[in-house]
Amino acid sequence: MPLFWETKYQKDQFRWDLGQPAPALVDFFAIATALRTGKVFVPGCGRGNDAIFLAQQGLMVTAVDFAPSAIAATATLAQAKNVVVELLETDIFTLPSSYQNQFQLLFEHTCFCAIAPEERPKYVNLATTILAPQGLLFGIFFTHGRTGGPPFGSTPEEIKALFASQFEILTFAPIKNSVPSRQGDEHWAIFRKRS
Ligand SMILES: C[S@@+](CC[C@H](N)C(=O)[O-])C[C@H]1O[C@@H](n2cnc3c(N)ncnc32)[C@H](O)[C@@H]1O
Repeated sequence: MPLFWETKYQKDQFRWDLGQPAPALVDFFAIATALRTGKVFVPGCGRGNDAIFLAQQGLMVTAVDFAPSAIAATATLAQAKNVVVELLETDIFTLPSSYQNQFQLLFEHTCFCAIAPEERPKYVNLATTILAPQGLLFGIFFTHGRTGGPPFGSTPEEIKALFASQFEILTFAPIKNSVPSRQGDEHWAIFRKRS
């Protein structure tokens, strides 16, 4: 599966890349000043638009992707923006145990929809494992209803049901300022790890 994504990057076929941090993320940090501290984990960081934005907010960022070209692009962007981030070129499901309970925040944006639906319980387990008690999973879920993928669709109900045993669902609401191609297909989430 890393080869699938790496090939996309090498052929410049990364239409999912916004070339900027997600508008919903930018708007959120305009008011979420209390979150501009601590450590944030960014799974499937791609070319780093969101990860570098989070570093610019003052967060200590660990950005993970198993596609070498994604990690290289994120490193280049970090250098251009003069921020330091920890970059891991690895599968999010094979992190060493030293990452357990290490993060106050996890930012989701088009990683969940990139993994096969049958792997979603592993994603919940990853989030539960790496977040500290009361840590927040926040970000954008791609809730489109089309068949096939990636990006694999999902309903708001499916996502809430999947996370509910490990997380309190604080917010799960349609996003109003999506980019035009994703209008009506995204939800903003804030989930708090139960303990
Ligand atoms: C649709 S792209 C989104 C990238 C980025 N989040 C963005 O919004 O531009 C999905 C990314 O997740 C990465 N990815 C998918 N499954 C992964 C896994 N199991 N471990 C690490 N990275 C993964 C892919 O390599 C790809 O860069």
